[in-house]
Amino acid sequence: MSYAIGVDIGGTYIKAGIVDKKGKIIEPIKIPITSKKDAEYVIGDVMTAVEKVIKAASPRKISGIGIGVPGRIDKKNGTIIDTPNLPLHGIPIKEILQRKFKKKVVIENDANCFGIAEAKLGFGRKNDYVLCITLGTGIGSAFIIKGKLYKGKGDAPELGHTTINFKGHECHCGNYGCVEEYISSRGLVKIARDYGFKLSDTLDLFIEAERGNLRAIKAFEEYGTMLGMALSNFVNTFDPEMIVLGGQISGAWRFFNKTMVRELNKKSFVPACKVAKTELKDAGVIGAGLGV
Ligand code: BGC
Repeated sequence: MSYAIGVDIGGTYIKAGIVDKKGKIIEPIKIPITSKKDAEYVIGDVMTAVEKVIKAASPRKISGIGIGVPGRIDKKNGTIIDTPNLPLHGIPIKEILQRKFKKKVVIENDANCFGIAEAKLGFGRKNDYVLCITLGTGIGSAFIIKGKLYKGKGDAPELGHTTINFKGHECHCGNYGCVEEYISSRGLVKIARDYGFKLSDTLDLFIEAERGNLRAIKAFEEYGTMLGMALSNFVNTFDPEMIVLGGQISGAWRFFNKTMVRELNKKSFVPACKVAKTELKDAGVIGAGLGV
């Protein structure tokens, strides 16, 4: 059997692992991004992750390396065009990694990697129109139509950067009032601030909510309302059969899903659809590996 290495470059962590043809991950690892100061650090961390996985993979045969990039890419040339939450603009990542590891390298948008995994192993197997949304440092999106990803001319969908507030906060993409500012971890941190929390990681809010802290629970409920509103716009655009949520914040599902569903039903013009949390673990890594 041949294996691929899957790498998911997140805004805060890099996840990687050996992925077999069936999409099973062997030896998954997660390393923090050392610094977002410049590309050198992030690329250095990607190399460290790949090196670790290659070592763990021996003596298995590795067919190539799949990289999930958190932003727009030029897939053909293997360069990164724009990563709003990381300083990787213009980096020829494919060439850099191919030269270093002497293996085939395939790059793909991180949310599309999540979508590939959902299409092959998750909700995309039983549903024809599945909208995938990742809730993390950024907001990622992928749309599955009958098992295949819809990408428009190549970059769609980029739902995190749809404007929902003309006078809103400045987004890392340079525009104002993007949906990402409200429902990504930055959005959750801002909501949590109003409830008295100074968070460096949204995981801490989850831990507080788990402990029964009512302010933390309220913060998640408010987040759910915001998310439901955002999803209603997406439902009006795509009319999907279902929406699948992934990314770190989706782990707090039980604290925000009620208000999310309520708001989604209230706000969407076309009938709302069901929403579920992904059942896959590290779907981004799986999809990156399967894409090789
Ligand atoms: C980027 C997307 C990416 C998402 C999650 C957004 O800011 O524009 O391309 O999928 O973050 O990383």
